[in-house]
Amino acid sequence: MNNKIIIINGPNLNLLGEREQSQYGSITFNELKEICLNKSKELGLIAEFSQSNIEGQIVNIIQDSIKNFDGIIINAAAFTHTSVAIRDALSIFKKPIIELHISNIYKREEFRQKSLISDIATGGIFGLGSDGYILAIISMQKLLKNEN
Ligand code: DQA
Repeated sequence: MNNKIIIINGPNLNLLGEREQSQYGSITFNELKEICLNKSKELGLIAEFSQSNIEGQIVNIIQDSIKNFDGIIINAAAFTHTSVAIRDALSIFKKPIIELHISNIYKREEFRQKSLISDIATGGIFGLGSDGYILAIISMQKLLKNEN
């Protein structure tokens, strides 16, 4: 049976392509979504690509993922640095989690250099631009293959 993964995007990532291109590149959210869904399909994964600007909604998406998905790739965006609620929800998910950032958060402002997610994630990718999403999907497929 095909593994199911969810790619969760936090606040302002819906504005990719418009916001701070020097940090996040020119790819739009919809282009990125299509690339991720195609790559997942190519690797035999069933993927959902979601985005919310609302912290509680992301918590709900993570809670629903516990029964519906085998792995989570998450770019929690600004909530990475602030949200204990998202961290706690992720802690309940006992399957692979990949933390993802387009930019190198450790090379940016001090407040971005702290992630509340890293120590509970299986692994992480940062600073590799939107390609990080593709790399995360490849890694997730390998992690899930090894579990089966
Ligand atoms: C981000 C980095 C965060 O600090 C920022 O708030 C974002 C995007 C990234 O992908 O590089 O919105 O998660």
